[in-house]
Amino acid sequence: MAKNAVYSLLILITTTFISSVQAQASFNVVDYGAKSDGVSDSAGAFLAAWSEACRSRQPANVYVPPGTYYISTAGLVSAGTIVASPNFSADNKWISFLHVGGLRLTGGTIDGRGQELWACKKAGKSCPHGSTALIIDHSNNVVIDRINLVNSEMFHMAIQRSNDVTIRSSIVSAPGDSPNTDGIHIHNSNNIAIVNSTITTGDDCISMGPGVTNTWIENINCGPGHGISIGSLGQSSGVEAVENVTVRETTFTGTQNGLRIKTWAQRNVGYVRGIVYQNAVMNNVDNPIIIDQNYCPTDKDCPTQGSGIKISNVTFSNVRGTSATEVAIKLDCSPTNPCTEIVLDNIRLTHSGGVTAAKSFCRHASGTASGVPSKRISHNQNVQILFDPFLSCEKCSIGSLGSSSGQQGVDNVTVTVTVTGTTFTRTQNGQQIKTRAYLNEGYVMGIIYEDPIMNDVANPIIIDQKYCPGNVDK
Ligand SMILES: *[C@@H]1O[C@H](CO)[C@@H](O)[C@H](O)[C@H]1NC(C)=O
Ligand SMILES: *[C@@H]1O[C@H](CO)[C@@H](O)[C@H](O)[C@H]1NC(C)=O
Ligand SMILES: *[C@@H]1O[C@H](CO)[C@@H](O)[C@H](O)[C@H]1NC(C)=O
Ligand SMILES: *[C@@H]1O[C@H](CO)[C@@H](O)[C@H](O)[C@H]1NC(C)=O
Ligand SMILES: *[C@@H]1O[C@H](CO)[C@@H](O)[C@H](O)[C@H]1NC(C)=O
Repeated sequence: MAKNAVYSLLILITTTFISSVQAQASFNVVDYGAKSDGVSDSAGAFLAAWSEACRSRQPANVYVPPGTYYISTAGLVSAGTIVASPNFSADNKWISFLHVGGLRLTGGTIDGRGQELWACKKAGKSCPHGSTALIIDHSNNVVIDRINLVNSEMFHMAIQRSNDVTIRSSIVSAPGDSPNTDGIHIHNSNNIAIVNSTITTGDDCISMGPGVTNTWIENINCGPGHGISIGSLGQSSGVEAVENVTVRETTFTGTQNGLRIKTWAQRNVGYVRGIVYQNAVMNNVDNPIIIDQNYCPTDKDCPTQGSGIKISNVTFSNVRGTSATEVAIKLDCSPTNPCTEIVLDNIRLTHSGGVTAAKSFCRHASGTASGVPSKRISHNQNVQILFDPFLSCEKCSIGSLGSSSGQQGVDNVTVTVTVTGTTFTRTQNGQQIKTRAYLNEGYVMGIIYEDPIMNDVANPIIIDQKYCPGNVDK
């Protein structure tokens, strides 16, 4: 018996059954033969207590007294459905595992029956917060496999202060209009994997709060819901950080967001870095790609309007599909802490409304874009596409116009070419408009540059109508 197979266990599982309002029955694992000596195998006792609890006609509680129990193979395999009370209470958790090592949860349905609480919240009455259906807390080496989590009052699952947790082949579902029913929320945890799962909820499909590191999310269908989010970070003091997260092979359908990073417009410090988003399909998503560092829902307590969270080294690669709104890429970063090393690679998004082209928005962000449409100028007066966001954010160069005959114009594009709050650092040019020294006709008008900051820029403001590289031709 390996020493590292001895786990300290404290499990409190509460399952409340529909048909009964009687007092809770308690199933103490010690009564089923569990020994708190850390050596004897208590697996059988735990399973016996669990299965008795599941058979109970009354509200049931599996109780593990304090102590160290050795579990050779801890597994809870369920083919049935566990339902919560239809009536909400002031509790904020329903089923929770605390200080568990080596837990396996396989199969079955866990139904939080949140409908009554959602109705209370929607009616604007004073109602409790609601319970998170399944909580994994302070635990290590946990596998959750083929679980169906439905209609939780609040979050369906929370993983906190834990390491090495895998959730696979599972389904989380609640109606798109159910309030705060996040799918899986993770914080202060390391090495979490969520794979091969479908999540449809009224809030984030997956949300990652402070302290999430080395996390892998793959093959997820999300929607309805609010997307896969990092954040909100920066609401409280102390360093809040998220690092090394990979999100790949995802499909978003009708969601509010796709891939999102969100921080409060507050000074609290922290960082988000080493994030890779790869191979995402967007079906009619409001904000397919969004970094929002100006989150301030109540417009109070956001005195500086500059987030202290530094976002860097974030890659979006192979993102395709449709945006429900015109702005398919929104990079709205902190004026005091601009985003850096943002990489956009092969982004193919169209506006599903179809009438206007998809656009991008960029503020205080720098990085590179490749394989991203960037029709700054066309021969047609209705130039609307400015899709590579760094064109408006970083380089801010219009032109060169006039290199071919026939009229070329950038007309009345104040909507697409409003360049706001850009920071230029050691660039060759700041805001530039450049035309060739040819006789070809055209015009540039309706351009607005707002609030630029120049740091050591060679040509901060430059209109150059004498552009003639090589000094050939005219
Ligand atoms: C839920 O509340 C209703 C109405 O107050 C009550 O009749 C019912 O017994 C309660 N059910 C449970 C399981 O508590
Ligand atoms: C996820 O699904 C793929 C394809 O079906 C499979 O190859 C892979 O083993 C699954 N991963 C896990 C962790 O279940
Ligand atoms: C990043 O996280 C993955 C797991 O998602 C892990 O395999 C990898 O080693 C981590 N990278 C670093 C540099 O820690
Ligand atoms: C950027 O993040 C990726 C993914 O975590 C990592 O492999 C890479 O080393 C990071 N690059 C830098 C320059 O830190
Ligand atoms: C410029 O565009 C705006 C917004 O699209 C529109 O309302 C306005 O009529 C246009 N002005 C001209 C002169 O075309």
